[in-house]
Amino acid sequence: MSECPLHAPVSIPADGTPVRPSPELARWRAQGPAVPLRYRDGHEGLLITRYEEARAVLSDPRFSQQPQRMPDSHAALVERVPPGEVDEEIAEAARLSNILGCDGAAHLRLRRAITKRFSARSARSYIERVEEIVEAAFGGLLESGSPANLTRVYAEPISAQVHAFVLGIPEHLVERFTDVYVRGAPLQVQHDLLREAIAHRREHPGEDVITDLLASDLSAAEVLGMMHTLSMSGRDTVAYFIVTAMVALLSDRSQLEALAADPDRIPAAIEEIVRYGTMFLTVFPRTALDEVELGDRIIPAGTTVSVSAVSANRDERRWGSSADRLDVHRDAQGHLAFGDGAHMCVGQQVARVELAVALRRLITGLPTLRLVEAEQLTPQPLAHPVATYEAGSLVVGW
Ligand code: HEM
Repeated sequence: MSECPLHAPVSIPADGTPVRPSPELARWRAQGPAVPLRYRDGHEGLLITRYEEARAVLSDPRFSQQPQRMPDSHAALVERVPPGEVDEEIAEAARLSNILGCDGAAHLRLRRAITKRFSARSARSYIERVEEIVEAAFGGLLESGSPANLTRVYAEPISAQVHAFVLGIPEHLVERFTDVYVRGAPLQVQHDLLREAIAHRREHPGEDVITDLLASDLSAAEVLGMMHTLSMSGRDTVAYFIVTAMVALLSDRSQLEALAADPDRIPAAIEEIVRYGTMFLTVFPRTALDEVELGDRIIPAGTTVSVSAVSANRDERRWGSSADRLDVHRDAQGHLAFGDGAHMCVGQQVARVELAVALRRLITGLPTLRLVEAEQLTPQPLAHPVATYEAGSLVVGW
């Protein structure tokens, strides 16, 4: 690698919060588009910190998602299910349906099997059901009384129930689905629940992801594995953003008031909210298959590269001197909160609809809402294996 401005490789900084990311990131951006990064298994790669270069890496097929160099990456872990902990089909399912750990035609085949129910059009068709789910959660919040833990009473139930609805988890299994995927359970228990859901949909097809998967060319093990990946991907991401948005808005009431005065702005403001509160400090690591020229540097073949979506979304070169401010009137199109390129988030359109409905109900329904305490206001351990922030508890009063 040429002209590396830092000698010692850095580690992912743990001193930031979603609304106030580590100052190290800005320092590294000032020095160049990338810094050497020490991964947890000891090997050295690169952390991309600037927006232009981050985007270039995410959209370049010469960066592979296969977990070649990353023994402890998520992609590798997904494929290395501990022997004896699960039955054989689950181990096979994990290996075959690892959408975040494959490239090219193999990746496209998996992705095509699931995209229909996550399109912008499908997402719009869910609005009525999402509003019902949000209304019920809002009722639950009022009933629980002030102060309340918004994460547990509002954000998590909305996220889990909308997710279950889109996937096609039958009504009688939704509560268990929420339990095993939001609160956590052994892999075998999670997969056994998914098997029940899949068996039900085989008998009772619907307009949902499971029904589409059953009609696709995916094998039974691939269907099971894909359902597990999807269940994991959507279980906490939307809840995180409901919480982060409210932490940000309640910490800067001028922005909250701007949205309260003009709630029709909320859907457009979602882009800025997810830019500002980006969850993925790093997205899933890539490996350079060839030597790649990136700006003024040469990345040798075989280098592991991680893109910091948080850093790119705060890059002053792209977002100007107010990059560190939440501005609900900003045009934040092009942010990297959902990634970019071939692996860009499948669930983003559904997430946008869900966030807009959930935030609107809170902002218009509880004008006196105030922040009592939030774990997000102080640095919390990052979720592994990719470095992501977590929702944490958010206590609000009204
Ligand atoms: C606000 C909520 C969400 C955020 C911020 C988010 C973020 C992301 C990001 C950054 C990636 C790309 C990772 C990479 O390139 O390394 C991704 C991929 C993905 N997301 Fe999301 N996500 C969200 C919600 C969802 C939901 C609701 C689903 C639904 C199941 C979902 C399913 C997926 C899947 C399947 C992928 C892998 C796509 C592929 O490899 O082709 N996400 N997400």
